[in-house]
Amino acid sequence: MSTHNKPIRKAIFPVAGLGTRFLPATKSMPKEMLPINDKPLIQHVVEEAREAGIEEFIFVTGRQKEMLEEHFDFQPELEATLEARGKDDMLAKVRDSEMPAGSLFLTRQPKPLGLGHAIWCAKKLIGDEPFAVLLPDVLIKGEQGCLRQMMGVYDEHGGNVIAVEDVPREDTNKYGIVDTGGDTGKIAAVKGLVEKPKPEDAPSTSSVVGRYILQPEVFDHLAAFETGAGGEIQLTDAMAKLIDVQPFHTLNFDGKSYDCGSRLGFITANIIFGMADDQIGKDVKAIIKNIASTL
Ligand code: G1P
Repeated sequence: MSTHNKPIRKAIFPVAGLGTRFLPATKSMPKEMLPINDKPLIQHVVEEAREAGIEEFIFVTGRQKEMLEEHFDFQPELEATLEARGKDDMLAKVRDSEMPAGSLFLTRQPKPLGLGHAIWCAKKLIGDEPFAVLLPDVLIKGEQGCLRQMMGVYDEHGGNVIAVEDVPREDTNKYGIVDTGGDTGKIAAVKGLVEKPKPEDAPSTSSVVGRYILQPEVFDHLAAFETGAGGEIQLTDAMAKLIDVQPFHTLNFDGKSYDCGSRLGFITANIIFGMADDQIGKDVKAIIKNIASTL
């Protein structure tokens, strides 16, 4: 491990998105509160960050998102009731969802101007240190959390690290796509980054999955408020300006991502996480086998 890398203590969770793909479910409920098995999406990603050693959790929030901060708060009436009824398992789960005092920070993105703009809204809370970004739409299942795996790359190489995953060529226009000059190794140096290229223009099929370790200099580029793909201020475009200036690596992580911002990805994730559940996993598998036999 190189000793000069500043530790990654803070993580940004952009949670201001409208969740239009899940209407009417998300009409008055934040999409980040949709449950995968027994936990809302946001709790899954907060736990991934916690496992990676993150100490400060920064939510970039917006209108009608108060439910998110409530979820991580102390709920004395609920705890007292569970305690009185001897529901120790549930009590432990509720306590586990609480954020320690002084570790949750909120900032707001007043208008949906893009992911880059959302990250820029957290600039003052980050200050002059490297940080992580986790997109709560994306759940990653693996032996070890994706961000924790990325910390290993950061310890070795420093600079910026992004998790990547191969996608079908026809889907490149849904993601940030990385050019590694043909290097398909587990860890590769980034040579180029482009947001949502058409399949015929994409430099590769290696996609950015929504987990980032970034240096604070990215804020200097975000502050230009330049718009890119879809007329939005893109994080990908600001990150591209760090290539060749700072170390910048991809990690082909161990595990698989689920895009829970789409209905299909959300349903798939519920099946996968349900099958892996200690209590109901066996039954979920039996039900799926049973349904499959009728198709
Ligand atoms: C964002 C990023 C994109 C990344 C994707 C991962 O896009 O801009 O680079 O590949 O998340 O889910 P969005 O899905 O917000 O359009």
